[in-house]
Amino acid sequence: MLNNLQKDILKLKEEKNAIILAHNYQIGDIQEIADFIGDSLELCIKASQITDSDLIVFCGVDFMAETAAILNPDKKIILPEREAECPMAHMLPAEEIKKARARYPEAAVVLYVNTLAEAKAEADILCTSSNAVAVVESLTEDQILFGPDMNLASYVSRQVDKEIIPIPEEGHCYVHKMFHTGDIYFMKEKYPDAVLLVHPECDVELQDEADEVLSTGGMISYVAHSDCQTFIIGTEIDMVTRLRRENPDKTILPLLSEAICENMKLHTLEKIKNSLLNEEYPVTVDKDIADKSRKAVERMLEVS
Ligand code: 13P
Ligand code: SF4
Repeated sequence: MLNNLQKDILKLKEEKNAIILAHNYQIGDIQEIADFIGDSLELCIKASQITDSDLIVFCGVDFMAETAAILNPDKKIILPEREAECPMAHMLPAEEIKKARARYPEAAVVLYVNTLAEAKAEADILCTSSNAVAVVESLTEDQILFGPDMNLASYVSRQVDKEIIPIPEEGHCYVHKMFHTGDIYFMKEKYPDAVLLVHPECDVELQDEADEVLSTGGMISYVAHSDCQTFIIGTEIDMVTRLRRENPDKTILPLLSEAICENMKLHTLEKIKNSLLNEEYPVTVDKDIADKSRKAVERMLEVS
């Protein structure tokens, strides 16, 4: 049953001919009113296909809304809370990429979509956690500058026969850094038959203990298609919310209940209503930067 605020939002959405896109880490109340929920790649693909909406309300963090703006230069993209930033995306300034390129002139630059538009404009190609290996394998270069997540860089370097150089050296996500192997031993002792899924932003020691290392979208399809009954989820807590709603017959357990992305949680139903009423807060990307970074986004979409 939807609450009054959710009903107001759906009505306003119709009136404004708007579409609401939400990342898997949004709270359940927002997931319920979203037109589309997904991981970074699914949201990119969805954003590249929007033709019939005038307004895109993006319930995610800054780099995701910017990517939607890059792919839709003629549409209005709004973030319900303008401070919703991904700290990891701010760890790799464009200047640092230029310096790394000068040091490694033969290398290709592969950037995680968790980067700001200025950084994306310096990339040869982007990737997300669901296609990073395929993206790197699609390149002819054997040396790859990869940033900003050092854990995703390690994950990729163990799957491909190329030299992966992380930029910056220690880029990371504070949410996925909260997990420790002790959390795994505790949960595995309690639930020995459970399948452990972790995100590649988790430290390598956790990746090594997991049954599968998957993007959030990968976790959704893995659980939906698995014959197993119990799953331990090593990523942000609201993935558990979505998985439980979509798999009521399965047992979905968080690896750590405290793994909350406070930045994603800045969006609320009240702010979404305000964003539709006042068309706040617009996300814009400078035209030159958008044109340059669009090439790297589109190149990734071709590989995906
Ligand atoms: P996904 O693309 O797997 O959803 O990851 C995005 C993200 O920010 C994870 O922290
Ligand atoms: Fe950024 Fe981490 Fe939040 Fe993902 S979970 S949006 S990487 S801070």
